Amino acid sequence: MKKAFKIIGIALAAVLFLVVCAAGFVQVRGIPSYEPPKLPAQKVAITPERVVQGEKIAMSMCADCHLDKKTGGLTGRHIDDLPAEFGKLYSANITQHPQMGIGQWTDEELIGLFRTGIGREGRYRVVMPTFVHMADEDIYSIVAFLRSDNALVQPQAIASHPQEPSFLAKALTNTVMKPTPLPSKVIKVPAATDQVALGHYLVTARYLCYDCHSKDFKSNNVMEPEKSGGFLGGGNHFVTKDGQTILSRNITPDVETGIGDWTEQQFVQAVKFGQSPSGPLRNPMPKFSIMDDAEAKAMYAYLKTVPAIKNATPEDGSAANAVATR
Ligand code: HEC
Ligand code: HEC
Repeated sequence: MKKAFKIIGIALAAVLFLVVCAAGFVQVRGIPSYEPPKLPAQKVAITPERVVQGEKIAMSMCADCHLDKKTGGLTGRHIDDLPAEFGKLYSANITQHPQMGIGQWTDEELIGLFRTGIGREGRYRVVMPTFVHMADEDIYSIVAFLRSDNALVQPQAIASHPQEPSFLAKALTNTVMKPTPLPSKVIKVPAATDQVALGHYLVTARYLCYDCHSKDFKSNNVMEPEKSGGFLGGGNHFVTKDGQTILSRNITPDVETGIGDWTEQQFVQAVKFGQSPSGPLRNPMPKFSIMDDAEAKAMYAYLKTVPAIKNATPEDGSAANAVATR
């Protein structure tokens, strides 16, 4: 009997030792670096169409994280709308400044980062979403916008702040949050005539609604968004400017707790202007104000087709909340 205890004791000590070693490794290794992605040298043609499209995407997908209201440019900021569990994370200066911004990044280095999350020197970029499924043309449009004469991206000499990731953020980037692979074929934006396919593309590939609107960043599946925990059922945690915790909402077609009883017009209002039937929507829900109505309608059509999830969030009121004890 005594011997058995001794063996269990030794086994436990060994496990503990391994855990401590792994923790030490994560702590010292920090955010990992990788081999930078290898893309052929390329020069994205900067056409007026691409600049317009790039602006449309960047205003909803990049500005919220990269815009510093004090500088009026995409000079980077402290990302204070993420829960403190991730540490203190800062977006970077992505103006055209040659040393402090991205003036010296080549087009293929930018595209490599957007696709994989790995920077030109190999350092993995935390928090910044990767655009694995985004159409090539949309990616080129973002590059064209970054190179354009738009006021937001004109060079500003402001140094990017180094990251102060928490142990959790370091552990996640050493385990589940990994670089994504370069696409193996050309990706196209679905035709506007196929509303559901276009909506699916917008929700999972261009505007990444699912990233915020599923259960938790930690259980999201970047390669197969539909396999994310609680896909589009809401509940992911955020922090507002005044320090309040808020949850993303359920945008599946569940009638009681989702948007199953919403009209198309109500949905368009909420997405473009932040006006939900339950009141104004707060940050970090982006205002997709320069999105075409047709795109918002395509997303509505697609969202009607996803599996309904019953998950009440605070705006559903006390009756619904009594059902969902989270
Ligand atoms: C959720 C917030 C977030 C969003 C959305 C976001 N970024 Fe970032 N981005 C970051 C953070 C944080 C970093 C810096 C990460 C680091 O240094 O590890 C970064 C880094 C970068 C860099 C590398 C700059 C450098 O010098 O290291 C580029 C380029 C960039 N972002 C462009 C974009 C573009 C273009 C978009 C929109 C298509 C975008 N980002 C959307 C958070 C975001
Ligand atoms: C950066 C995270 C984030 C992204 C990206 C995002 N949302 Fe949201 N969304 C939120 C949060 C948080 C709320 C809740 C706001 C509140 O409580 O005031 C919300 C609320 C909503 C609502 C209101 C639902 C209700 O029941 O009132 C709709 C509709 C919505 N989002 C749709 C979308 C769509 C469509 C997209 C993609 C085009 C999207 N969101 C992208 C975070 C996000």
